[in-house]
Amino acid sequence: MKKIGILFGMEDTFPWAFIDRVNAMGKGKVYAEPVRIDKVQQGIDYGYHVIIDRISQEVPFYRAYLKNAALMGTAVINNPFWWSADEKFFNNCLAIQWGIPVPKTVLLPSKERPDDTTERSFRNLEAPLDWDYIFNYIGFPAYMKPHSGGGWKSVYRVENKDDLFAKHGETNQLVMMLQEEIVFEDYYRVYCLGQKYVHIMPYEPRNEFHLRYATEPKTQGAEHVKLMKTIHDYTITLNKALGYDFNTVEFAVRNGIPYAIDFCNPAPDADVHSVGQANFDWIVEHAAKFAVEKALAHKLNQNNCSWGGFVARSVSPPAMKQAKVPLKTAAQAKKSAKRKPVTAKAKAATPATKSPAKTKAKTTSPAAKGSAKPKAKTTAAAKRSTGPKAKGGKKS
Ligand SMILES: Nc1ncnc2c1ncn2[C@@H]1O[C@H](COP(=O)(O)OP(=O)(O)O)[C@@H](O)[C@H]1O
Ligand SMILES: [Mg+2]
Repeated sequence: MKKIGILFGMEDTFPWAFIDRVNAMGKGKVYAEPVRIDKVQQGIDYGYHVIIDRISQEVPFYRAYLKNAALMGTAVINNPFWWSADEKFFNNCLAIQWGIPVPKTVLLPSKERPDDTTERSFRNLEAPLDWDYIFNYIGFPAYMKPHSGGGWKSVYRVENKDDLFAKHGETNQLVMMLQEEIVFEDYYRVYCLGQKYVHIMPYEPRNEFHLRYATEPKTQGAEHVKLMKTIHDYTITLNKALGYDFNTVEFAVRNGIPYAIDFCNPAPDADVHSVGQANFDWIVEHAAKFAVEKALAHKLNQNNCSWGGFVARSVSPPAMKQAKVPLKTAAQAKKSAKRKPVTAKAKAATPATKSPAKTKAKTTSPAAKGSAKPKAKTTAAAKRSTGPKAKGGKKS
């Protein structure tokens, strides 16, 4: 008898429906239950062939339990090692390599320095950052959001530079991404299970929370069929590359092109009260189906977790040739960017020059201080950053 466990937090509809469905489907060969933990001893196999993890992103104790379980052969969905390593900025980088449209995005150092670091910990970081380049590249309005996070927490729409610096000032130690706004005509959330079962849900993020799934596609006929096929294929490609077996991908459609906005949701909302009955039925059915498949395919004395194409290709280098789009070097990015001159007014709009008294010198990381230094320094720094080392990222 193969045993499937589900590890979960406050949610109260999906886990029980999942357990019931597996137990109906398992035909005495597979059964499911809530994971039970009364001790966690190193190197001990607690007997689950499969565990669906819905909560370890919030409970580090569970994440460590799951890594031990994975070592003992449990097929943990999703792979706890990959989930620990992953974040949204990397996701975007990988998407570019696979030719999937994503909004233009840059990474920002945290406003406040991490605990137990000092100014000296940041000597590799230029102050100020090359804000002129960043603003010209991203444009305004823009989105600013944590590079690792979810649930719309600390997601900001920023109107201009002043607004950006003011909101960045609220983000403490979070590492943020600044991202081009996709002004979309249509939006979709897509469940993907086992890197093969795909369910595309029209979604309206501008509606009240409980009405976000109560919307219709904006396209029809052949145009719609084509869009759905593209979204389906992008979803599979992303999840294969990342190695997630349980994920949602969000797409904002602009001028008919689906841009992947958020595709690092390894414990996505599956509550009947938010996703609605039909979507709930789909996710329960397919999660149970996939978990049973994984349980039946389980092999003793081996790692049964899924590993994405990125990891697989990293240990098998020739396959890197599959990448569709070689990533740019910093020098290439600089050359191809259309650089508009930044006005003196815009320069003055950064916090360090505008209100130096308010800048918390002791807790603010150097790069977050704004464009206080002379332009010449920025240019020289930019030149240094385009030197031979920066070219090391080029794939051959
Ligand atoms: N680049 C963007 N362009 C347009 N809307 C965005 C963009 N980024 C985020 N959003 C909006 O903000 C919402 C939350 O952002 P998202 O990246 O999905 O973060 P989270 O992981 O917290 O859900 C999205 O559902 C979307 O409505
Ligand atoms: Mg989201």
